[in-house]
Amino acid sequence: MLLVRPRRLAAPAALLVSLTACGGDEGAVAVTYTDVQRERIASLAGPPSLPDDPTNAVADDPEAAAFGQLLFFDPRLSADGEVSCATCHDPEHGFSDPARLSTGIGTTGRHAPPALGAAWNRWQFWDGRCDSLWCQATGPWEAPLEHGGNRTRFAHLVAEEPDLRAAYEAVFGPLPDLSDPERFPADAAPGDDPDDPLAQAWEAMTEADRDAVNRVFSNLAKAVAAYERRLVTGPSAFDRFAEALAEGDDAGLAALSPAARRGLGLFVGDNPANPFRETVDAFGGDCWTCHAGSALTDFEFHNTGLGPRDWLDPEDPGRYAGIELVKAQTFNGTGRYSDAPDAAATDVLRYLREPSSEDLAAFKTPSLRDVARRGPYMHGGHFDTLEEVVDFYADLAESPELGHRDHQLYPIDLDEQDRADLVAFLEALDGELPDADLLRAP
Ligand code: HEC
Ligand code: HEC
Repeated sequence: MLLVRPRRLAAPAALLVSLTACGGDEGAVAVTYTDVQRERIASLAGPPSLPDDPTNAVADDPEAAAFGQLLFFDPRLSADGEVSCATCHDPEHGFSDPARLSTGIGTTGRHAPPALGAAWNRWQFWDGRCDSLWCQATGPWEAPLEHGGNRTRFAHLVAEEPDLRAAYEAVFGPLPDLSDPERFPADAAPGDDPDDPLAQAWEAMTEADRDAVNRVFSNLAKAVAAYERRLVTGPSAFDRFAEALAEGDDAGLAALSPAARRGLGLFVGDNPANPFRETVDAFGGDCWTCHAGSALTDFEFHNTGLGPRDWLDPEDPGRYAGIELVKAQTFNGTGRYSDAPDAAATDVLRYLREPSSEDLAAFKTPSLRDVARRGPYMHGGHFDTLEEVVDFYADLAESPELGHRDHQLYPIDLDEQDRADLVAFLEALDGELPDADLLRAP
């Protein structure tokens, strides 16, 4: 049974490699990949390795990770004592939120992406306004719609709660003395609005005292980041298949169902209908060009041409604003609270270009690892299911309100079977979960 339809066969010159294996579910199956496809499959094999974070000195410290796990699940760090990171990043849902938009103190304007696998990202947030996990973690604690707290209040909390204080000091050494209310008010944080009492309280503090609070606050975030670095998954069925394919291990090919194998063929393209096929090295055009490498992301931002939704801000500029925001972050990798502001790893930030119209409504390419564990999908929870995502890409029937669709995307002629196959492949990207101890409050 030849499962690649003729319209998708590669140029006659390409060598066709036929693989036969017992899939179990559908009996003996042959899937044919071109050489080009095999190379691309190999380039996606994982799981990805964990990138170093020299800007966080405790990134790989187990004690910091244990403290971070405590903080991640701790609702004391919120305005109403009820919101923790896990409120919107549910371990039972791939550390993402089953709701389109998330509700903490208020309701957010974008969908919550997964904390599972976030350690693989180069940029954090849909618009990449942070360049590290610890920069990211400082955001929600002070965001009025999320935890609704402020850094000075949390510094006091850590000083006053014996369990938090002990865990903090074991990793970072003695806390500063915050007991003088004249110097350290209960609530204070920087802000743009001069009438905001929090910002006024912050302005009234000395620079040294503000620095002491920032230090504690960034350390809390670094502990959370150390925990999140452990929230990465191991090999998926796809990885086992890719390894078997590379090694000529026919029995190992059974790791993917026949449908998922066909879907993989579609994902890596080399499709004669692709208008960019001849210039593929330069231009791409298939799923794998953006969902590239073992993390299944190019780590960059694209406008995929999603249309408006009535629950979203139609003017969301995405990466266009994210570029300026990440440069301006107090807690970025080149800033005062970075543990390696000059590290080569921070060059991506140092040499970040100016925003251009290409960045309008461009959002981060998410890793597709563990994608079936989460949903809804896209930066605004546009689609409830992977089937809907695949229909979107195949038909490209939507038009963006802002900016324009990335030129790399083109409608793909996919029938019902093709679409189901692509979904079967996406469902084979769930990796082995980390230790169960990491998936709940300590
Ligand atoms: C009220 C819901 C809510 C809470 C609480 C919350 N988050 Fe999020 N989180 C979100 C949303 C929404 C986004 C996306 C925002 C954006 O991109 O503009 C996000 C983004 C992230 C990301 C970026 C992932 C990526 O791929 O870019 C990480 C990591 C993350 N949150 C971790 C945390 C941590 C750690 C905490 C606790 C300190 C936390 N979140 C608290 C809703 C929440
Ligand atoms: C031009 C680059 C590009 C190409 C090509 C591309 N994607 Fe994406 N993909 C993205 C970006 C960017 C997003 C996030 C878009 C947003 O939220 O605005 C995304 C989101 C997704 C998501 C949702 C993941 C999540 O966590 O929300 C899935 C699934 C997905 N893509 C699958 C595919 C498949 C299958 C193909 C091929 C048919 C494909 N992509 C082709 C860039 C691309």
